[in-house]
Amino acid sequence: MIDVIDNKYFYLHNGAVAYLFGLLPNQQLGHLYYGEDLGELSADDLAYLTLHKNKASGTVKYSKKIKNFTLADHMQEYPTYGTSDFRESAISLEANDTYLYPDFKYDHFKITTGKSRKITVPASYGNDSENLTIYLKDTERQLELELSYSIFEESTAIVCKAKIVNYSQFEVEIKNLQSSVLDLPTANYNFLQLSGAWTKERHIITRPLTQGITKIESLRGASSHQENPFIALVDKNVTNDTGNIYASNLIYSGNFISQVEVDEWGQSRLMTGINPATFKWKLAPNQDFSTPEAVLFYTNDGFNGLMAQTHDFVTKHIIDQKWQKRDRPIVINNWEATYFDFNEEKLLKLATQAKQLGIECFVLDDGWFGKRDSDNSSLGNWTVDRKKFPQGLDHFSAQVHKLGMKFGLWFEPEMVSADTELYQEHPDWVVRHPYKRYSVGRRQYVLDFANPAVVDNIYQHMAKIIENAQVDYIKWDMNRNITEAYSPYLHSINHPQGEFFHRYIQGVYHLYAKLLTSFPDLLIEGCASGGGRFDLGILYYSPQIWPSDDSDAAERLDIMSGTLLAYPLSTFSNHVSAVPNDQVKRITSLKFRQNVACFGPLGYELDLGKLSTEEKNQIKNWIRWYKENRKLLVNGTFDQLLKFDPSQNTYAWSVSNSNKQIVGFYRKLARPNETLDQYLPLKHLNDHQKYQINSDQMVSGRVLQKFGLREPYQFNASNPDTAQISGDFQSYLYQIKTIDRKI
Ligand code: DGJ
Repeated sequence: MIDVIDNKYFYLHNGAVAYLFGLLPNQQLGHLYYGEDLGELSADDLAYLTLHKNKASGTVKYSKKIKNFTLADHMQEYPTYGTSDFRESAISLEANDTYLYPDFKYDHFKITTGKSRKITVPASYGNDSENLTIYLKDTERQLELELSYSIFEESTAIVCKAKIVNYSQFEVEIKNLQSSVLDLPTANYNFLQLSGAWTKERHIITRPLTQGITKIESLRGASSHQENPFIALVDKNVTNDTGNIYASNLIYSGNFISQVEVDEWGQSRLMTGINPATFKWKLAPNQDFSTPEAVLFYTNDGFNGLMAQTHDFVTKHIIDQKWQKRDRPIVINNWEATYFDFNEEKLLKLATQAKQLGIECFVLDDGWFGKRDSDNSSLGNWTVDRKKFPQGLDHFSAQVHKLGMKFGLWFEPEMVSADTELYQEHPDWVVRHPYKRYSVGRRQYVLDFANPAVVDNIYQHMAKIIENAQVDYIKWDMNRNITEAYSPYLHSINHPQGEFFHRYIQGVYHLYAKLLTSFPDLLIEGCASGGGRFDLGILYYSPQIWPSDDSDAAERLDIMSGTLLAYPLSTFSNHVSAVPNDQVKRITSLKFRQNVACFGPLGYELDLGKLSTEEKNQIKNWIRWYKENRKLLVNGTFDQLLKFDPSQNTYAWSVSNSNKQIVGFYRKLARPNETLDQYLPLKHLNDHQKYQINSDQMVSGRVLQKFGLREPYQFNASNPDTAQISGDFQSYLYQIKTIDRKI
């Protein structure tokens, strides 16, 4: 899979994809190609691929010694600024306040196979990987740069990262070190981003690339509700199933940038990594620094092709395999059912009702500790509120377990409220600049997770509770962005404050690692006011994330469609909540809410006591059906059947395995006499197999795939089982099963 040709070309390929780079005349690394596998390459092929036009060479030359050679003319693997390429660079270093213009030249390489899963740092893993590390040296500045690449069987993903080692006698300051660079010869793409805000996360936005920089980023201390590290460059005429797409994602949860620069010749440079705007790292002699990993994806099969790649990668190489095999529990979460207004009796009633409906796990959300009757108190005081639980948390948890349910518990480990001992006894454990004025958010403060003593303290508190209350599941919340970033700890050890944001997120990972080492079976659900930290870094530890505080099913159609471009169904949980919905006050039917929520891990978040007997029966039957189909709905192959559109009104999702396919069809607003563009196209069926649609028609795979599902457009009021024309927020589920008959 990794060929090194003439000690000059490095060719990673696996049948699905190829990634090729080689040495430039100045011994730096030049990028040549990323795309479909090119098979065997001859010397002539390589010479041809190396051809380029001298466009910029009329301006500045790299050196007197190499004729007509200018870096701006070349696609590169890891460009530096100020040495004849004026685009944004991947690396920026200083020593003694002087900019170093590093000149890393190829030295040697190493190939290894397999990557083990290490709990300390989120990174891709897999026995099926081949890994190439290129060692480049800057002898004048005595620095080494290691660029690492991994390729996995049957995947188009290429994982990249960079590491720098300081062999000089001087301290070097890293101001920028990106995780990956992908130079592309053209700019004929739309830039796609997953953007939004609190309660409207990861909506798909596209805009054409144009000369200059198109960038998304976070400066909030978390990957954020507003932007997601995932970006894609999509062909302008891309469809669900055709067209080229390049995409990148970052295995990181802190401040990031993902950007594309288009130069004056229409070449594109895609880069992703830690956001340099808030980063400065002190590298003492003999120390090294590694970036988080970035993942590049390629497909020529449109959006569904992209999702096949991103989903496969996250499933096999990011999420802990254990959670692929175990069923994710169906939860009842008490947040929208009670908010802070609860006691043991009330919750036990909710748990008992939930159990009767088939729900498997009770998640006790915010408000169980300290004196937390509102969101302005007690974070950091992780002792149970005896007013609400007179017999303690352990007793409540035992009652839940006695019902035959798992017990889940909410924490917000990174935060502290002013009315706690933790805050009063350790003012230096809070992220706060010595300035008098500081910003407030949700009346809580951020703990200095750059300080190992803080992480350890929080770990001790959490571990005790998890052990005593036999906690099976944690909801790990994080409800505040970081302002006036300043770590008293870094100040005390004389490190630059520019290290804070990165060390903070390393502290978060460290707490995850400690908890999961002590409690390997704990299922941790990530959450940050909903989807404020939905990224591959968190997914490494938390196999699922609460994707949004907006639980309205119609809003979720967009949130889920966007999220699914980069992350598989198994990575986010969906809860059926009450109507009118608490966020948008919309009323939708229970059927619509359940039909949306069943794609992925399912939950409920409403006062079950307020439901009618009919509604309870509906939920009970639904949960029975969900359990029968859970493996498919959580781990099946997902496809979008209708085109993305910012003003989308109808949605169709399918999830398939080898013998069954479930198609969800959803329509927001009723529109009379809607025009018919196409039937719902189906995929992943076997031409030679017969299928049954619901308990009705029998059709061959060949005909079904050619003509698609005809039903959803035949709305009529006389058939109550189909989506009705006269009503907003309608939905219908199709179950397409193989029947034991070959044709
Ligand atoms: C934000 C979360 O996203 C909600 O689900 C809930 O847990 C609240 N925080 C509790 O404060």
